[in-house]
Amino acid sequence: MAYQRVAAYDELAPGEARLVELTEPVCVVKLDDGTVKAVHNTCSHQRYPLHEGWIDDNEIECGLHGSTFDLDDGKPQGLPAVRPIPVYACKVEDGIVYVDLDTKLNDASEPRH
Ligand code: FES
Repeated sequence: MAYQRVAAYDELAPGEARLVELTEPVCVVKLDDGTVKAVHNTCSHQRYPLHEGWIDDNEIECGLHGSTFDLDDGKPQGLPAVRPIPVYACKVEDGIVYVDLDTKLNDASEPRH
């Protein structure tokens, strides 16, 4: 697999977390500075969908119990989650956002379905 188109860059609002269904559910995030990140959409604690949470700086907060995850290394920054979430390669070219599920930026495992 390679990079897959997931959104037009301009249609993502700063601070937005959007669910994109590829072969895995992916949460595509546009930070306030315009940077785009991509992580697995499933919280490593009790599988809550992360796109329903909140973005704060470079972290996403799970909407169920409040663990936050770093969007660069996927590591939880506080309990109750203790395992990282997968972080995927993401790029913007010609106004289009792409994600490559085969290129993970950390060694976190995808959650079981
Ligand atoms: S399900 Fe995300 S912190 Fe509990």
